Amino acid sequence: MLTISSLSKSFAGQLALDRVDLEVQQGEVHALVGQNGSGKSTLIKVLAGYHQPDDGASATMHDAPLELGSAVAAHAAGIRFVHQDLGLVLELSGIENLMLGRSYPVGLGGRIRWSAAREQAQALVERAGLTIDVRRPVGELGLADRTGLAIARALPDASLGSALVVLDEPTAALPNTDVERLFETVRHLREAGNSILIVSHHLEEIFEISDRITVLRDGKKVATTDAASADADSLVRMMVGHDLVVSGGRTAGQRDEADVVLDLADVAGGTVHGVTAQVRKGEVLGVAGLTGSGREELAAIVTGRLPRTGVVRVAGTEIVAGSPSAGLKAGLALVPGERARYGIFSNFNVRENLTLGSLGRHTFKGRLARRSEAREVQEYISSMGVVTRGPEAPITSLSGGNQQKVLVARALRLDPAVLVLDDPTAGIDVKARDQVHTIVEAAVDGGMSVLLASTDSGELARLSDRVLVLRQGRVVRELVRGADLSAAAIDQAQVAAPLLELPSELRPAAP
Ligand SMILES: Nc1ncnc2c1ncn2[C@@H]1O[C@H](COP(=O)(O)OP(=O)(O)OP(=O)(O)O)[C@@H](O)[C@H]1O
Ligand SMILES: [Mg+2]
Repeated sequence: MLTISSLSKSFAGQLALDRVDLEVQQGEVHALVGQNGSGKSTLIKVLAGYHQPDDGASATMHDAPLELGSAVAAHAAGIRFVHQDLGLVLELSGIENLMLGRSYPVGLGGRIRWSAAREQAQALVERAGLTIDVRRPVGELGLADRTGLAIARALPDASLGSALVVLDEPTAALPNTDVERLFETVRHLREAGNSILIVSHHLEEIFEISDRITVLRDGKKVATTDAASADADSLVRMMVGHDLVVSGGRTAGQRDEADVVLDLADVAGGTVHGVTAQVRKGEVLGVAGLTGSGREELAAIVTGRLPRTGVVRVAGTEIVAGSPSAGLKAGLALVPGERARYGIFSNFNVRENLTLGSLGRHTFKGRLARRSEAREVQEYISSMGVVTRGPEAPITSLSGGNQQKVLVARALRLDPAVLVLDDPTAGIDVKARDQVHTIVEAAVDGGMSVLLASTDSGELARLSDRVLVLRQGRVVRELVRGADLSAAAIDQAQVAAPLLELPSELRPAAP
């Protein structure tokens, strides 16, 4: 369906893509994998017409020449892109979102014929294999269905023949169960003869959904392989260039059971209806839950980014609600989940993004301090493997995963009493994920406490001493390291956790 040959793209003299060839067949799911900064999004952005390719590239779609770097040409050829922020208006219904950019059916006098609009919208979601009520506001749908809706909206008219749908990390912030739902849509599209080009850092997902896999490393294509003939180890070797030994995970250290650093008493707000929990010194408390369970809001509520009721104490001191600066002062540092929205200062460079929020430490002593700051920034860049031209590069010139690493470094640098992590490795590649985990483990061994809300069950199982599973804003299950804690147990408990298994102090009060 699509061929690309010898695609290069340089930014300020640096090659982000180096003579890359790619071939996507009709009716296949083709995965594009590689470490953070390997060039996946750049390739997609050239195809989408957002970037111009360097000289020497050519492409075809359905055997006809395709102009690279042109949004109009890509669209006319039936290539469609669904971006991570989806671009849906949450307050509007599915019908209205689907009709944005299309023309509504109108009757006499120019009045919109809502019943016809609804039928059209229904036909679109059915083409994407979705079973959702298009009259409901999109904000009421789960993330998987929202992504499905964005795909349905992107699909070209069926009369134009089969399409190529491009998905750049659609699953980065989705818990496993939601991923399964989204993959039903992907399979449905494939069965209808469409092709899908998908980017993901989750290897299990890649093997589950894709027919073929293309690996990029440092802007070069390493190989295209049949998913059936590859395994995780060989794929990682191609991505990283060598074997990767992932460190084993934590052993529960010696903790003073009485030493509670973070104390949550009946904390509620948004979708969280009342969470009581304690985190001790040197302990990692994980929080799991599907979209809508409260898991995605808990970190923001605890750190004061969202309003709340109930009591939050850090080392015995009660924190005033709704004030991030009060939380920070008391020792709560947040690594936010939705990077673009909360975390990154996009007008600043890497060094500034890494040091903002902790200016006090280096501002007093002038030149000396500046030099020590520069050295510290450089240390974080190398220990976390941040791919960047240097500390002074604009933060927006970094790939998504590398921006996320800067956010983790910023929080660690504050040396907080409690590190609050909200899906900290969403969008981070396998090697960097291990690096981030190792760094967090070292901080915990040094006595830091961690509240870790995550969609990644493997991450929760690796890092946590205990995991609280949320449903409908309440704790429905507690899983304990050394007893019943595992990634599979987390997945299962998120979907169906019988309330009976709760220890009495965790049992939710009657609503
Ligand atoms: N607008 C830009 N200006 C300068 N450099 C850029 C720009 N966009 C990307 N780059 C560089 O190009 C390289 C490839 O980045 P790209 O975003 O394609 O990586 P990626 O494979 O999508 O990574 P990730 O998994 O982190 O999303 C990186 O080194 C990045 O710093
Ligand atoms: Mg990317």
